[in-house]
Amino acid sequence: MDQKTALVTGAARGIGLATTDLFLEQGWRVVMVDRDESELVQAAAGRRDVYAVARDVSQPEEVTSMIRDALAWGGRIDALVNNAGVADFGPIEDTDFPRWRRVMETNLDGVFLCSQAALPALKQSRGAILNIASISGLRASTLRVAYGTSKAAVIQLTRQQAAELGEYGIRANCVCPGPVRTKLALAVHSQAIIDAYHDAIPLNRYGTEREIAEVITFLCSERASYVTGQIIAADGGFEATGVGLPALRGQ
Ligand SMILES: NC(=O)c1ccc[n+]([C@@H]2O[C@H](COP(=O)([O-])OP(=O)(O)OC[C@H]3O[C@@H](n4cnc5c(N)ncnc54)[C@H](O)[C@@H]3O)[C@@H](O)[C@H]2O)c1
Repeated sequence: MDQKTALVTGAARGIGLATTDLFLEQGWRVVMVDRDESELVQAAAGRRDVYAVARDVSQPEEVTSMIRDALAWGGRIDALVNNAGVADFGPIEDTDFPRWRRVMETNLDGVFLCSQAALPALKQSRGAILNIASISGLRASTLRVAYGTSKAAVIQLTRQQAAELGEYGIRANCVCPGPVRTKLALAVHSQAIIDAYHDAIPLNRYGTEREIAEVITFLCSERASYVTGQIIAADGGFEATGVGLPALRGQ
């Protein structure tokens, strides 16, 4: 079977679902993973060449069985997209340990667990790991003690993976999205945050799921065969800018 297979976590909606669709358009098969079973089943229905696996990426036993089921269906994994994530914005003082762990267990533990479990298959395919971090992992801002720290750790984990797994021909890269109007973002972005992002982003708008998926699928493809260990922000220029943008715009 020559057709490539991607495993995308958090595929029931948002950036994960857009990534699934773009892989399908590019001729891949996709294992769609999500812990929200009803939304996952709904998303998978009507899409060809997909296989839905309802699992929680933060639970080691579930991750083991996820990979087993994925291989039983697809026979191979050419790209692992660690996209499942949760957001929780709150002040440091109000972030108790259970709240901290809730973010870490999906955003960081999940990436570690899925990557490790997929390793034998990725070695075989000389495949790619693509981790989703965030601009919140590149730059600090208020209320993101758990979320921002989890994403900064994913950035470093990506570099660790690239450094160690290159000898197997496995590439590891990381995409840091800027704001995208998904359920995750809308739950934590107040109008004030939305306005602040518009001011701070040179392209002056939120991104779309599709714009993020384009970068993800490129980095997973043969077109990026010599790219590994890279952290790419798809953020409308947010990371590149310093202070003063809104003031200068008015002139
Ligand atoms: N939307 C943004 O503005 C934005 C910005 C930067 C980074 N990101 C990152 O992009 C990724 C996708 O986010 P999105 O905006 O599409 O969010 P979303 O909430 O629309 O989708 C995330 C999906 O992940 C699933 N999920 C969460 N925890 C899981 C777990 N433990 N196991 C399995 N599935 C789980 C959810 O059920 C959901 O379907 C996340 O890692 C997020 O941190 C998003």
